[in-house]
Amino acid sequence: MKAIVVSDQAAGTAGMKLVERPERQAAINDVIVQIHASGFVPTELTSTWTDRLGRDRTPSIPGHELAGVVTALGYGTTGLSVGQRVFGVADWYRDGTLAEYITMEARNLAPLPGDVDFTVGASLPISGLTAWQGLFQHGRLQAGQSVLAHGAAGAVGSMVTQLASEVGAYVIGTGRAADRQKALDFGANEFVDLDNDSLEDVGRVDLVFDVIGGDIGKRSAHLIRAGGTLVSIVGSVEVWPVNGLAIDFVVESDRAQLSEIVQRVRDGRLTANIGNVSTLNDAIAAFNSTHRHAGKTVVRVHQ
Ligand SMILES: NC(=O)c1ccc[n+]([C@@H]2O[C@H](COP(=O)([O-])OP(=O)(O)OC[C@H]3O[C@@H](n4cnc5c(N)ncnc54)[C@H](OP(=O)(O)O)[C@@H]3O)[C@@H](O)[C@H]2O)c1
Repeated sequence: MKAIVVSDQAAGTAGMKLVERPERQAAINDVIVQIHASGFVPTELTSTWTDRLGRDRTPSIPGHELAGVVTALGYGTTGLSVGQRVFGVADWYRDGTLAEYITMEARNLAPLPGDVDFTVGASLPISGLTAWQGLFQHGRLQAGQSVLAHGAAGAVGSMVTQLASEVGAYVIGTGRAADRQKALDFGANEFVDLDNDSLEDVGRVDLVFDVIGGDIGKRSAHLIRAGGTLVSIVGSVEVWPVNGLAIDFVVESDRAQLSEIVQRVRDGRLTANIGNVSTLNDAIAAFNSTHRHAGKTVVRVHQ
């Protein structure tokens, strides 16, 4: 099968190569999926180099989001069937989704309804689940609360903005000046241009969803009112809110949550945020383009 591999961590996306790789056998509880579309953000390259024991596994296939069709089941695999449309998040420590096929655990996949395009399906799993888990599991967001949604026009931030709006939260989106209208269109009640506006002017919020970190993350901690929560997806929290909670987490695949997310896309409550769409042959050039594409890059692997 065709696959993109990496073997040089320092080179990042510039070190990607399109090669031929053998397909793997499905182990217990695995499925093999023919990948129709794969979602990718370059920051995922932090976690593709080793297995769970820290052993080098390069050249490895990066990419963690996919939508496709199940082509084989491993011994004892239940819950999915051959020919079924699926989408989900692949393991951080196994070969990933920038390939024609993937072998992965069935539990990390959910059914993809027939009326949802594979490109849309591949754009949702990491962004949608991260937003869902950060807002509702870790942040315990409730109607009437306020949320500072950083990077509100980005892949995760746009999901945060839409899901928080849907439950009746007041959403203050942030990002670059050029992203203002996009963030407002996703449902933000107001927008802070981080390069030109004063972040401190937003006053106090119940929840900060940090996708940026650094100085922005530290300053945001001071904006959280007593009892509020700072949720970070970009590493350990350096400054904690006074009288509040802070949590950093890595998204996990969850079949029930994936089904909630895709149902919202079907009934129009949630809009996918897709930036550039390329083929597997063109993907390396797309990842290394200097042109800015807000939203998730999706690779159409199988037409
Ligand atoms: N822990 C987890 O489970 C998890 C899950 C998903 C993602 N992540 C991480 O979360 C981060 C965001 O992911 P994503 O997929 O949402 O990326 P993304 O689509 O690039 O979104 C990030 C958004 O924030 C904006 N932004 C970043 N720095 C900014 C700054 N200093 N000022 C103004 N705007 C800024 C970006 O604009 P520009 O493009 O112009 O910079 C972009 O619109 C990545 O580091 C990713 O690895 C973690």
